[in-house]
Amino acid sequence: MRIVSGIQPTGNLHLGNYLGAIRNWVKMQDEVTASGGQCLYFLADLHAISMPHTPADLAANTREMVAALVACGLDPDRSILFNQAQVPQHAELQWLLNGTARMGWLNRMTQWKDKAGKNREGASVALFTYPVLQAADVLLYQATHVPVGEDQKQHLELARDIAQKFNNDFCAEDAPLFTLPAPFIPPEAARIMSLRDGTAKMSKSDPSDMSRINMTDTADAIMQKVKKAKTDPEPLPSEKEGLEGRAEAKNLVSIYAVMAGTTVETVLADFGGEGFGKFKPALGELLVEKLAPINARFLELREDRERLDAILCKGASKARELAIPTLEKTYEALGLVRG
Ligand code: TYM
Repeated sequence: MRIVSGIQPTGNLHLGNYLGAIRNWVKMQDEVTASGGQCLYFLADLHAISMPHTPADLAANTREMVAALVACGLDPDRSILFNQAQVPQHAELQWLLNGTARMGWLNRMTQWKDKAGKNREGASVALFTYPVLQAADVLLYQATHVPVGEDQKQHLELARDIAQKFNNDFCAEDAPLFTLPAPFIPPEAARIMSLRDGTAKMSKSDPSDMSRINMTDTADAIMQKVKKAKTDPEPLPSEKEGLEGRAEAKNLVSIYAVMAGTTVETVLADFGGEGFGKFKPALGELLVEKLAPINARFLELREDRERLDAILCKGASKARELAIPTLEKTYEALGLVRG
């Protein structure tokens, strides 16, 4: 079993990232490495340059994100933790896969359509070819499972399509080169929504910081954001079905359930009939309790730049070793001569 996943170091790690992906990264690290498998987790810094960015911020965010991931429980001795920029095989494989990916496939990607908006002529080429780099990220290591939130499902399907077409076009039927990676999406936290709008996902790119809980927020900030979260005037229902059509209420109850390690039904059994005046402080306190230890570890780690750089450097060296055999086979399959 080989687990591979990535995150863009474009800002704070937020609760959506944590519940949708990082929590599973840690779980898989504990389970998969115990049974001899491998976990590779990386900072998608090459993806981050697909949008306008400030170089100094990217460098600072990359180090902060390593500190945040380790604070969440990733152990660089058991997982391979690195940034793409130190493993040039990602960009190399992307170029080789560009020959297989189709324009039509990329044109259908919803993230491309959302991020480019109406200004396609002005969008970067990197934003368009972004999913091919993402395919290279996982195919390079023959990933079997990729833990992600729901929003990355389409990109993962594209990676499978690219792998399949490459195997068909360039490999013998009984010797496919690429493993088809399976997405692993947590059923209970696939899509955590904004605190200000129950129909938009919680996101780093939302201009309002009140829309998300950052993993590095202080207790006061968390309580304040939960208190101000958008809701409706009705009390909470006692049954799950009563949450249908109440996007904001549903989101807050789901967050409570996942953070408490219980089910939506149990939360509603406790809070059904209560108003948000009672539920919100309880949710705020639960979040503060669960996030405080992560926050404390993060604040300590982020001061140690040498240690953070050493983690990335060591992880990158292990990743390069694992990447080279597949990359060499890809060159060979394409008829590219290497001396
Ligand atoms: P990114 O940096 O936007 O997000 C990192 C992870 O967090 C998940 N996520 C969410 N899950 C639930 N609810 C939310 N509101 C929410 N917001 C974010 C994302 O699904 C993701 O799992 N393109 C990727 C990074 C990437 C990658 C890869 C992932 C690059 N190469 C290869 C997997 C495999 C991205 O921008 O994720």
